Amino acid sequence: MAEIMDGKSLSLKILDDIKEKTALLKKRPGLSVILIGNNPASSIYVKNKEKQALNAGFNSIVYKLPETASKGELLSLINNLNNDEDIDGILLQLPLPKHLNPYDFLDKIDPKKDVDGFHPVNAGKLLLNENPYAVPCTPKGIIRLLDEYKIQIEGKNAVIIGRSNIVGKPLSMLLLNKNATVTIAHSKTKNLSEIAKNADILISATGCADMVTKDIVKEGAAVIDVGIIRDENGKLRGDVDFNNVKDIAGFITPVPGGVGPMTIAMLMENTYKLHLLRNGL
Ligand code: GUN
Repeated sequence: MAEIMDGKSLSLKILDDIKEKTALLKKRPGLSVILIGNNPASSIYVKNKEKQALNAGFNSIVYKLPETASKGELLSLINNLNNDEDIDGILLQLPLPKHLNPYDFLDKIDPKKDVDGFHPVNAGKLLLNENPYAVPCTPKGIIRLLDEYKIQIEGKNAVIIGRSNIVGKPLSMLLLNKNATVTIAHSKTKNLSEIAKNADILISATGCADMVTKDIVKEGAAVIDVGIIRDENGKLRGDVDFNNVKDIAGFITPVPGGVGPMTIAMLMENTYKLHLLRNGL
């Protein structure tokens, strides 16, 4: 029976620590989140980010733009936030409405305020293993969870299912920088089960229910579930067939209560760190 990796309680410890350290600062760290349109999942995520930021003692401002917002409006808002001394972190909530290309905007955010670590400068620094100003929150949270449970990364086979710019690609770099042997599997991968069965650390970030079943998991593996899927009864679940996989895995993250809360905790940590960096602290 696998040990459950409790992201919820670890995230609370991290958030408490940030709150304590923030109380000692002269100035409050400032996080601004830009939400465009009415995507229901995005609205929930943004509300949660705002709540945690306020709880940490940050200055938190959410900018809500209509679904029809123009490229010019969004560029002008980003420019204002880049020049706002009180703002340390700028987060553009994805996905954007179809008429807007995220990469027309992500590279306009000041890399030193790029709290998501999505700017090409930060992505490049991560690729080069050269101190990005910020590292993407979900991958960073996964590494923190692996560390907390003392799961060895160096020399291990890590298999990531999913090649997104938000999770799969940056996570592959973090694991590689920690000397794992990394495989990224995706929708065109042949022999997924063979590849996954070889994983000491198996991470699934696809949004497909039952992507990871017991038969493709190596005995004793650490299984990390990044999926967030609402089933037909409105209940949250992940990519992993948790009830069966837990019998064979060594470690497993639950959904909810695994990777999700760690992502938000890392967002607060990134905001705090960018504040220190920008203020020479
Ligand atoms: N949408 C889903 N995950 C994320 C994230 O980590 N950052 C942003 N900006 N948008 C997202």
